[in-house]
Amino acid sequence: MTRYLVTSALPYANGPIHFGHVAGAYLPADVYARWLRMKGEEVLHVCGTDEHGVAITLQADQEGKSYRDYVDHWHEDITAFFKRFRISFDAWSGTARCGVHAETSQKFFSTLLEKGFVTERTASQWYSESLDRFLPDRYLQGGCPECSHPEARGDECPACGAWIDANQLTDPVCTIDGSKPVLRETLHWYLDLPALQEAGLASWYEGTDAQHPHRAWKPNVAGHVTAMLKDLKERPITRDLPWGVPLPEGLEGSEGKVLYVWFDAPIGYLSATMEWAEAQGDPDAWKAWWQDPESRLVHFIGKDNIAFHAVVFPSMLLGQGDSWEGKEFILPWAVPANEFYNLQGRKFSTSKGWRLDSDAFFETYSTDAARFHLLMTLPETADSEFTWEGFQATNNSLLADKLGNFASRVLKFAAKSFEGKAPSSEGGLDSHPSLAEADAALGEIGVRIENFEFRAAAQALMKGCDALNTFFDVQAPWKLTKGDASDLNLCGEVVERCLAYLELLSRRMGPFCPDSADCLRTMLGEAAAGSGKDWGPESDGQPPSRIATGAILGEAGVLFRKIENDAIQEEISRLESAVS
Ligand code: MF3
Ligand code: ZN
Repeated sequence: MTRYLVTSALPYANGPIHFGHVAGAYLPADVYARWLRMKGEEVLHVCGTDEHGVAITLQADQEGKSYRDYVDHWHEDITAFFKRFRISFDAWSGTARCGVHAETSQKFFSTLLEKGFVTERTASQWYSESLDRFLPDRYLQGGCPECSHPEARGDECPACGAWIDANQLTDPVCTIDGSKPVLRETLHWYLDLPALQEAGLASWYEGTDAQHPHRAWKPNVAGHVTAMLKDLKERPITRDLPWGVPLPEGLEGSEGKVLYVWFDAPIGYLSATMEWAEAQGDPDAWKAWWQDPESRLVHFIGKDNIAFHAVVFPSMLLGQGDSWEGKEFILPWAVPANEFYNLQGRKFSTSKGWRLDSDAFFETYSTDAARFHLLMTLPETADSEFTWEGFQATNNSLLADKLGNFASRVLKFAAKSFEGKAPSSEGGLDSHPSLAEADAALGEIGVRIENFEFRAAAQALMKGCDALNTFFDVQAPWKLTKGDASDLNLCGEVVERCLAYLELLSRRMGPFCPDSADCLRTMLGEAAAGSGKDWGPESDGQPPSRIATGAILGEAGVLFRKIENDAIQEEISRLESAVS
């Protein structure tokens, strides 16, 4: 048994989650976690909301809400969305609500400071005299030093895309009250990434550190990180903000300063694990997950988070040395980062209305169909997109026509011809070529999932269904019940095999479509009644074991309802009218 610590990027508590986020991290992470749990591995899927930083304060200020109320609201909203999407977190928290988050983050900071990996320096920064506070980048607007565009933000120019040093803005104004800020000296703390690179980051990344093994990096991760490591710089990890984790007590010049959100956020994975351990009644239980060299830390993220998960956070972890009761932290074992997921040809944008209303979506369509379609179109190697036409095709031509149809044909036939009971069978069909194809396809699913090839895993499930439908068509059991060709023995065998494969399908589809898998198991009745059947893949590639003769089947129902063309056209018009 292997221990997998699976994390999904902490979403900012400043807006709704959309399908783009889900396809980037949460859904593949969930499929991975569900598969490993089913296989009998030890799994902890950790996440929570990212509740600090200017992404939060800026929005809350604009809406005139308190930071606390603001993040609480979005934490609830995001929690509900994940529940509806059946994302199965084992630990779910938030950086401003987790009771041990601040102290854990402060300890990280203090340890790095003690070890000389954090250094202190003064720098000048814009200060608002009217508000009596320093202004972080995003609170400033002014002329772009590159292209002179008059409305550049403190961190970035919307016209030329330049990354801006806020101090270089010409004629800056404060975006809160329009006042003119002045430059003032202030103290900040910097993470010495070049030193950490030498202290172990480089050898871990290159794979020469036997203590901290990792899988081969995905090409999109390697491309990004290799370039970054060539010119690694110190990074400021403190900010002047009224909201966040305060710096540890007793540091001179630290009043009014908090840790940079990207410093405290990934520590959220750890503090959420600690909180979970506490709730289990075993406060030390986090250690096995984070410090046992055999544990595998897997970060599911979108591509914009690569630097933080493959460079910054590993540096922070390794810089702790053995300061946590004599033990070192593990480093990431895999970083399966995805590219971006768009909507019908454009980026998802909540503010511009280019979005799917999730309440409306889930009122009409099934979570499982959405999950499966996202998995079939995941941005694994390049950006990809959700289209309504594609969603309809996945739902109708794959889920309904292949999977749902196979289930309903078999169960209806068994109800009619065998009184809703599993027929007896002698066996002898095991070597049928279609069944061999099904064995191979269903056996491929787990291999693909463990390789982070979720599209291929979903396709393998469909290949399995194709083979099973072919088996049913070729054997044509309905021709064996009457007339000259009547052969009830063979007929029973065909049906028994189909039921056994349906039972296997119900397990193999589980990580993708958990509700429909449950539904199928109910339809199978006693044919799916546990009865010592292994859920895991030990026998993958082998035919499933026999269904007990006489097992009483449940009622055949519809697993996936078809979506009409009109409904899809309406969705597309609604989307287009929202932006026009
Ligand atoms: N909130 C960040 C984002 O949405 C992700 C934070 S991931 C963590 O881009 F590791 F920092 F938690
Ligand atoms: Zn510019």
